Amino acid sequence: MHHAATAAAATVPGEATRRYLAALRDRGPLTIDRSTAPTRHKRYPGAPRIVLPWPTSPDRTGLSAVGELLRELLGVARLIWFHQVDDTGRPVGGPPVLLLGRPAPSGGALYPIEAYLAVGGPETAGLYHYDPVHHLLERVRDGDHRAALAGIPDVAPAVRPDVVLVLSAVFWRSMFKYGDLGYRLVCQETGVLLAQALAVGERLGMTGEIRLRFADPRLDRLLGLDGRREGALAVLVLELPDGPVRPGRPVDPGDPPPAVPESTPAPRRMPPGGAAAALHEATRNAAPPTREVPGATSPGGAPAAREATEFALPPAPAVRLADGVPYRASPPVGFRPVPLAADTLAAVLAAAAGPYPSDLARDAPATELYLLALRVGGLRPGAYRYDRERRVLCRVAGESAVAGVLGGRLLPNTRIALPGAAAALIPAGDPLAGVPRHGDRWYRMQQIETGLLLQRATLAAAALGLTARIHSDGANETTDRVLGLAGTSRRSLSFLCIGTPRAGGPALARPIPAGPRKGGGHPQITYGRQC
Ligand SMILES: Cc1cc2nc3c(=O)[nH]c(=O)nc-3n(C[C@H](O)[C@H](O)[C@H](O)COP(=O)(O)O)c2cc1C
Repeated sequence: MHHAATAAAATVPGEATRRYLAALRDRGPLTIDRSTAPTRHKRYPGAPRIVLPWPTSPDRTGLSAVGELLRELLGVARLIWFHQVDDTGRPVGGPPVLLLGRPAPSGGALYPIEAYLAVGGPETAGLYHYDPVHHLLERVRDGDHRAALAGIPDVAPAVRPDVVLVLSAVFWRSMFKYGDLGYRLVCQETGVLLAQALAVGERLGMTGEIRLRFADPRLDRLLGLDGRREGALAVLVLELPDGPVRPGRPVDPGDPPPAVPESTPAPRRMPPGGAAAALHEATRNAAPPTREVPGATSPGGAPAAREATEFALPPAPAVRLADGVPYRASPPVGFRPVPLAADTLAAVLAAAAGPYPSDLARDAPATELYLLALRVGGLRPGAYRYDRERRVLCRVAGESAVAGVLGGRLLPNTRIALPGAAAALIPAGDPLAGVPRHGDRWYRMQQIETGLLLQRATLAAAALGLTARIHSDGANETTDRVLGLAGTSRRSLSFLCIGTPRAGGPALARPIPAGPRKGGGHPQITYGRQC
């Protein structure tokens, strides 16, 4: 009886999302059993391999360009010599630790996202897994699966995308530490990596389009994933600068050859019966992909009512997001309290909130953007809503906003970082607004867009000599109250502190491969900005 009631409730669109949100709100302290932590990458030891050029070859065509894209997504990018410090930056003693840094941020540096690639070509046609440790592709299936993964199984070979990238999440990698919250993190990290892929792809002359509306069971089956231990969360269709790859042997997607087994032990499944497992199950049952109705109202929700003063941002300098990739790293102990120029802020906001190519409606973003301004030239400290159309900041709270946010439940490192930051970006949205159209999959889409927006802001900041760190705990009920969201259906979705990097610090990082020697001296070594 109880079981039947639960099953019925789970089929009501939005119910799994509501339960998940309630579970996160009411969760108590977490107990972490590190003995259950899986490895931070996976392999297919028996699979045929394609070793990718290292360092990438100068021609940057075909698989060389794809290899460079993958390395700048998930590769081992930095060697970090880290002196252990507490949350205030004071040394805690003990020997320094050596860390491997990756190009994009990841909650707790757990790196739960895996990348798969479908390529064509007479010799290369196959479905590959990227092994970031050895920088190679492992062929998990033969044949040309590009059209099937792109959701266009019936198109002729000539109009197939050159390459299709699929991002999947190994849920337990994040959830062993963060419990149900891990599901939110893996969705955001998928968005982070999509932003990174679009930025790097653009530098490499590729064009990409994000697909978030696909049939999970079909995609997971093709990738050889069970959907519960690991499941596909996003697809990126890519066109390469040197044109289409020659078509390979087509494969009937209904009867694919068996996948090669992955390394063992396999990570655990999401705890069955938990709120995250139920939500993921509900997001898998998405409505079939259809194009959005033009002119639809924003599912992010209506703007807040109590806006008064407006601040017109100055013209933003052009910034290429890929320029931020080599410099991006989350600052370990906050920022140097230096003001930020308003035009620099304008560039970061424009980069974050601009349109992106996807199968979501272009005129109906899933998120809106708020700003907590601490020290921005010409802008009174306070909280603002960013009007992405007019590129104007609308003041929603006065100077007390910063103290208000600091009065919320924040982790110690956020308490240290925020006062030195120039600003904090806060994506917000209604977690249920898109349910009528997308069902519970809306939760995923909105969280993915949140991550994408955060990473675009981060890359813009890094390209402009700044640094940024996600502080997820900054998105809380107190912040919502400060922003005027309390009592509305919208809420803060994440929190990104942006500021000037400190000189020195507990970390010393060396890029892999080593950067160019400047004046014949040491390879490029960065202090403080890495880790
Ligand atoms: C979705 C997401 C959430 C994160 N949340 C936090 C957070 O709450 N607090 C924090 O200090 N860092 C947070 N981070 C930053 C990670 O800790 C950081 O990316 C990781 O340690 C790797 O370091 P790096 O960014 O310097 O490469 C988050 C990163 C991501 C992608």
